[in-house]
Amino acid sequence: MPVLSSFGTRYPFHPFPTGWFAVGFADDLAPGDVRPLKYFDSDLVLFRTQGGTAVVIDAHCPHLGAHLGYDSKVVGETIICPFHAWRFDTGGRCVGVPFAKVVPPRARVRTWPVAERGGMIFIWHDLDGAPPQWELPVWDERRKRPGAGFRKMHDDFGAAHPQDVFENGVDFAHFPGVHSTGKAISDGAIITDGPRFYSPVRILPMDYEGPVSPEIGSTVESEVWGGGLSRVESRTPHAPGVMTIYYVSVTPVYAGLSHYYVHQLFLIDDDCTMSDEAIDRFTSLAAEHGEKEQWSDGNIWPHKKNVAEPMLSSADGPILKYREWYKQFHPRVEQPIAAE
Ligand code: FES
Ligand SMILES: [Fe+2]
Repeated sequence: MPVLSSFGTRYPFHPFPTGWFAVGFADDLAPGDVRPLKYFDSDLVLFRTQGGTAVVIDAHCPHLGAHLGYDSKVVGETIICPFHAWRFDTGGRCVGVPFAKVVPPRARVRTWPVAERGGMIFIWHDLDGAPPQWELPVWDERRKRPGAGFRKMHDDFGAAHPQDVFENGVDFAHFPGVHSTGKAISDGAIITDGPRFYSPVRILPMDYEGPVSPEIGSTVESEVWGGGLSRVESRTPHAPGVMTIYYVSVTPVYAGLSHYYVHQLFLIDDDCTMSDEAIDRFTSLAAEHGEKEQWSDGNIWPHKKNVAEPMLSSADGPILKYREWYKQFHPRVEQPIAAE
């Protein structure tokens, strides 16, 4: 049995950090669709209005407790409870009760702040229920290659804490062994700016021992945004003019389970000189490789423990700097919660 912390987990910090967390892929939710969800130990409902707005609300109707994720209907910009047809708007307010002259003025369901970025749907989580302290940037992805890349939600990486998963980006020493790359080294200064942790890395060719220059190897620029999202931009000399983007989000379901979301896409520079066929060849190989690579850490995260004071070597990246920055997303709690 692993030794558990006062949170009932393998981590000495709360399992539900603060930030934006993925709860689905935008393309999987058409207008009128409704999905029951469970995240942050809460029953939730995700739906898309006929006008196209994605909405996340607490699942249970304040009337007599029906779950709004099953057999409910989206009509216009509202969702209708399957039990007695109370109707709720995108702000969670009850705006219609059949046969009643007056809508109970305090009838409402809690809504969760939602943002759609990079083909993913995110919700804001703060353990105390505070509103978003910052917005996710709107990245310019108009040069996206349609239909290329992959997306996947893994529910088999155990209770990997988001902090641990994003630590991968600065864990230079694990790239060659786990991801079969060449040596990974720092490629410039780390920038920490409120909820953003930026770390540029250069991956050298396999067995390369020569001098490092901007023409050698691939660049990987990772940004962690708050407690729940990492966005990575990478370029390789094999595909000049093509940028590979990864969005990775880790969303706690309850203390004993997290969902790992990944979306890979490609942006093509206006002056890219590769032919369409060559771009297709590269993006489909990169998608196949990228999807396989997601599994490489998959046997490590569910079983590792958190070493609060790791014994680091000169080959390691700025792991402690990253952990120090991430601390701001740990809720300050007196009462630990139990693992399920
Ligand atoms: S339980 Fe939802 S309308 Fe009655
Ligand atoms: Fe990794």
